Amino acid sequence: MAGRIPQQFIDELITRVDIVELINARVPLRKVGRNYTARCPFHDEKTPSFSVNPDKQFYHCFGCGASGTALGFLMDYDHLGFIDAVRDLASSVGMQMPQALDAKSDAGAPAINQSKDLYALLEQAASFYKRQLREHTQAPRAIEYLKGRGLSGDISRDFDIGYAPPGWDNLLRAFNAQANPALQAQLTEAGLVIEKGEKDRGGRSQHPASGGTRASLHSGYYDRFRDRIMFPIRDARGRVMGFGGRVLSADELPKYLNSPETPVFHKGRELYGLYEARKAVRQLDRLLVVEGYMDTVALAQFGIRYGVATLGTAITRDHLEKIFRLVPEVVFCFDGDRAGREAAWRAVQNALPLIQEGRQARFMFLPDGEDPDTLIRKEGQAGFEARIENSVPLSTFFYNQLTKQVDTLSMDGRARLVELVRPLLSNVPEGVFRHMMLERLAEITRRDVAVVAQEVTGRPITARRPDHHLGRRRSAAVAHAAGRSLVRVAIEILLYQPALAQQVDDPQALAKLDVAGADLLVELLELLRARPHLNTAALLEHWRDTQEGKYLAKLAQWQPEVPAGVEAELQGALRRLAEQYHQQRMENLLHTERLDGLDDLEKAELRRLLSSNAAKKTAE
Ligand code: UTP
Ligand code: MN
Repeated sequence: MAGRIPQQFIDELITRVDIVELINARVPLRKVGRNYTARCPFHDEKTPSFSVNPDKQFYHCFGCGASGTALGFLMDYDHLGFIDAVRDLASSVGMQMPQALDAKSDAGAPAINQSKDLYALLEQAASFYKRQLREHTQAPRAIEYLKGRGLSGDISRDFDIGYAPPGWDNLLRAFNAQANPALQAQLTEAGLVIEKGEKDRGGRSQHPASGGTRASLHSGYYDRFRDRIMFPIRDARGRVMGFGGRVLSADELPKYLNSPETPVFHKGRELYGLYEARKAVRQLDRLLVVEGYMDTVALAQFGIRYGVATLGTAITRDHLEKIFRLVPEVVFCFDGDRAGREAAWRAVQNALPLIQEGRQARFMFLPDGEDPDTLIRKEGQAGFEARIENSVPLSTFFYNQLTKQVDTLSMDGRARLVELVRPLLSNVPEGVFRHMMLERLAEITRRDVAVVAQEVTGRPITARRPDHHLGRRRSAAVAHAAGRSLVRVAIEILLYQPALAQQVDDPQALAKLDVAGADLLVELLELLRARPHLNTAALLEHWRDTQEGKYLAKLAQWQPEVPAGVEAELQGALRRLAEQYHQQRMENLLHTERLDGLDDLEKAELRRLLSSNAAKKTAE
């Protein structure tokens, strides 16, 4: 997606924007030394660990690990797609979007300002529905229903539960929108009203329980939610993005009507109750994922305030990323039936690539015919929490499911198991978790873990530190005091002070070095030679959405203890890398010489290398 906007445009944009100003407008910052800090907007915390660096134009949270550029911040904080974030940022510094792109955005979404208006409308709608639950003549029916479901008044208030009265135009009239086409269009955009004749994007059309007929409508629009209990769905910051509305009686359909996809609401990404959980639990350390609105609310009423619900969709990667940004542990709660197990398996597949050290996913399955709402009413908080404690770790569920499909007593079955595991573990990041999964597999198949690792990953097992994500590697490069590789040291310094790249004569000299990350270092150096004015953030934008980008973002957090020393340290690291290359090259040439001889050029090169090597030895 990033490819659609010329990188030069992004370069220019990032160097013009001031990330401090941008973030400060949303999260008030306090200056501490060179940097600015605040309580992190991406996780719940009491003391500030969120830091914004004006030199690098980069932010980083030491608590939850969130980090990024001005663009990344806008995307995460304002929930914008890449193009919308670029557009918003561009307009803030008076830059014209590249022509072809300006017409359409990634989600067909309007510009940010309009999104802000949508949030305001949605908030007003939530207040309206809440008021109706107290004031409307039909409210007693709704209250009766909620009481019948066992909801307390307190919990209804905590979740801002409301009521959309029967009738086609209550909301339209509350907004005084009947004669205001612009407002009608906005309410439609917000998913609150539907244009007559437009295909209802939310679900099947339905008949009103009471109230007017379509013929009596004042305008070409009608309320989407009619005669329903209303659950406002808030984003992690508390802004209302959409609603779920439940019918009062069993024979109405659909049982739940949700807001359609809008510029501010994406069902597959959001979790009902997340904001309420963050508000209620000061230090959230896990989330319990359930299926329904009523489940979340009932759990909260009975003291389990960390329940969140998907909105009638399966658990997606987006959900999981959101969850793991906030808490290290997630427990999935599923029905005990076949559908529940299938849904759990999909969650496994989405979770596998995201599990790393310190993160945990667990699974619990409910007895037949129960959901969290019914169960916690029977068993109470303690009973339900005991079930949570008994939930099984992902690894257990994973192998339980797979071993059901094969006969682990036979050789064939065990070989087949390895075949089943291979594609699933192939995108699990190297590290403690993967190692543990391989050990389990080795146990089950009763073979050596090294052999199993080779079969599953195509590579022998290594004791490599999990944070070295780069493709090629050579442990010889690990020489730095802190155990960091020379390449890493060089990259860290360049990200800290990109201008130093100008002092490197010939980046290509390192290009053939067979050391992890050497290619990335060379790319970085070349880029800085071509575009000397890029700051750290602009550099990072060149690797947006890539594995290398993640690695670079991590290295960009590095700060030298003695800033004055970095120039010499960079020179030293590059010199030693060059020496390593010479050594590698020399060994290669000597090897080739023994095997099939060298041509004249190679002979000359080898002589040069040997003599400079000898000169160095004497110098030492
Ligand atoms: P369930 O049908 O399991 O309902 O839907 P529930 O949560 O137990 O609801 P109650 O207890 O009868 O009130 C689970 C979730 O699936 C979505 C909703 O998000 C619901 O909370 N759903 C269900 C819909 O979006 N539409 C529907 O028609 C039904
Ligand atoms: Mn239910």
